[in-house]
Amino acid sequence: MPYAAFRSIGAFVPEKIMTNKDFEKLIDTSDEWIQKRTGIKERRISNEDEASSDLGAKAAKVAIERAKIDKDEIDLVICATVTPDYLCMPSTACLIASKLELKPVMAFDISAACTGFVYALSIAKAFIESGMKKNVLIVGAETYSSILDYTDRATCFLFGDGAGACIISATEDKSEAFIDIECSSDGEYEDLIKTPGGGSKHPCSQEVVDNKMACIKMKGNETYKLAVKTLTSGVQDLLQRNNINIKDITHFIPHQANYRIIKAVGESLGLDDSQVVVTIDKYGNTSAASIPMAMNYIYEQNELKAGDTIVFDAFGGGLTWGSALIPFAPIK
Ligand code: UT7
Repeated sequence: MPYAAFRSIGAFVPEKIMTNKDFEKLIDTSDEWIQKRTGIKERRISNEDEASSDLGAKAAKVAIERAKIDKDEIDLVICATVTPDYLCMPSTACLIASKLELKPVMAFDISAACTGFVYALSIAKAFIESGMKKNVLIVGAETYSSILDYTDRATCFLFGDGAGACIISATEDKSEAFIDIECSSDGEYEDLIKTPGGGSKHPCSQEVVDNKMACIKMKGNETYKLAVKTLTSGVQDLLQRNNINIKDITHFIPHQANYRIIKAVGESLGLDDSQVVVTIDKYGNTSAASIPMAMNYIYEQNELKAGDTIVFDAFGGGLTWGSALIPFAPIK
């Protein structure tokens, strides 16, 4: 039976930096408040001519090079995004495949908000273990600046733009295989994080534009409490059922939504700070891109080695959540 192996990681961030000080000119806030409440110092913002597929294709290029495979060996492209280039079609995955000049390939987007990357890992694992695909390119790409209301002091300072990508390949070597992954959702909480307008429920209209209904709305405090609870229990379940001790985790890579959430989850799980990857200070919350961007960060710091055991842990709109236990298995 083929197993799924995590071969490589890559990322791309736009050049333009928006600092907390820049938000002081837009909303009633302060650099001190944002840093204290979230850990965010700055975030990246795309240029007008950069859409999610542009960021995603650049991140994917890095991941493909590092995987040491020919791009024509890729037989599935999955893009996790809630800020696709186009509302309905074509998918951002199709655009990324075209920008990379891949041969004709199955390509689709998935929408699971900030949990999108973990959902995509789960899908890639199923395709590979079933024998249907051999080399899956996953891209988490977001241009949140396109759905932010820069007058909404409850949300606009939290998010940023960026992309991360990875290659998941078939292997016969069980020591390289994904250990476990679990994803879930509960639509009862649909109103916690939402873009209420622009879809089939409230199609684009003057009302949608006037009320900025195509922008993200979030009940931050309620989301915060659920995030800490769900992120903690997801990992506890995963470790318990695989009989793995928290001390055996080399890198805990959580979704980067708020430093206080990351710290609370790390403490509940009994993690040492050295195990916990934090990049929210540099990039803010980049939704489906945040986990692969954080993984790429430690890779480029030479902190990620072959055989390291990684836990991914995500939470987002839907609500959705998911955790994964995976060894890093680059081609030697
Ligand atoms: O990625 C998807 C998942 N998303 C998340 O997990 C986000 C989770 N939520 C959060 O990160 C936090 O809830 C926020 C950072 C959004 C807000 O922090 P909080 O500690 O929950 O603040 P709060 O909404 O309870 O508001 C506390 C105070 C209020 O003032 P009073 O009533 O105590 O006087 C707010 O008016 O902070 C005030 N406030 C602000 N002050 C300065 C709210 N927004 C701001 C702001 N600048 N931008």
